[in-house]
Amino acid sequence: MATAIATPNIAFVKYWGNRDEKLILPAGGSISMTLDRQFTTTTTVYFPGSLGADEIKLNGKGVEAGEARRIVEHLDAMRKAAGSKLRARVESVNSFPTSAGLASSASGFAALTLACAKALGLHRNMSELSALARLGSGSACRSLFGGFVEWEMGKRKDGEDSVARQIAPPSHWPELRDVVAIVSGEKKHISSREAMRRTVETSRLFKERMGTHGRRLDAVREALLEKDAGALFEEIMTESGSMHAVMRDSRPPIIYMNEVSARIVDAVKEFNAAGEGRARCGYTFDAGPNAHVITTQRYENEVREMLLDVKGVKQVMVSGVGEGPEMSEEHLFKI
Ligand code: DP6
Repeated sequence: MATAIATPNIAFVKYWGNRDEKLILPAGGSISMTLDRQFTTTTTVYFPGSLGADEIKLNGKGVEAGEARRIVEHLDAMRKAAGSKLRARVESVNSFPTSAGLASSASGFAALTLACAKALGLHRNMSELSALARLGSGSACRSLFGGFVEWEMGKRKDGEDSVARQIAPPSHWPELRDVVAIVSGEKKHISSREAMRRTVETSRLFKERMGTHGRRLDAVREALLEKDAGALFEEIMTESGSMHAVMRDSRPPIIYMNEVSARIVDAVKEFNAAGEGRARCGYTFDAGPNAHVITTQRYENEVREMLLDVKGVKQVMVSGVGEGPEMSEEHLFKI
């Protein structure tokens, strides 16, 4: 039995599209910041040796068929790696709304991978574990590390070099903040997996995007390493726009942002225009309408106020740079 706690991450350069969907090998690299304990997924896994099938509970309830299949497939991948046939009892709780574009799949599969590995006695380094987490949910591989993380797309066909690594620890830039504006807690209407497939298959703009993706990765990595806030904020806004553009360019179009998201984009533009020519914050949106407004401690309160003033914003939460996952001795159930 083992319990792991993991946190989501917010991508500054996005993962959107696979070159191999079965192994979750991305079409390009991505860079993220791991969030702090404001948002957590805690997962306990137990392999009692007496179960005929996996038993899964999420936030105290059973899970629907599609979700269960995805979790069982991940348990199968972990069992295969450990040479085990044991069925598992899994319980997981999120401290934030599931499937609202807050990347619960990232913290969820990161915690599941770590708890499973420990419960199965699977000894792997963090890089190898990130490759396993990737199979559950692409973005989960980045949640295995704290601070600032890059998922390298890798070149190998078997995907063993498609792993995440920390590019800078949380102490490198502890003043950075993700001010999250919750616009909707509803489930997304189309899963990222399916939406990515549609983009890769139907969007012509996607090829354009991937043509400049390497340069975007270099620019964001450099802005992070040099702590160039203005450059970072500009880059992430352009990057978020690029991902949402290829989503819209898909047939039929995929639209995750809504009118509240659009109002947030305007509010950020106005807020930055009031500065001295340098962006003081930058927005980024994942596969949902919620906004992540990245800023520094200096503007945290102003950004929070600005977001609370936007009509339709339900709640604002602030996360600093997270330390990454950890194992816990406090299990979610007793045996
Ligand atoms: C928009 O990794 O959540 O958040 O593999 O279907 O779980 P699945 O997709 P997921 O997709 C993340 C997409 C994104 C961008 C990002 O986090 O890089």
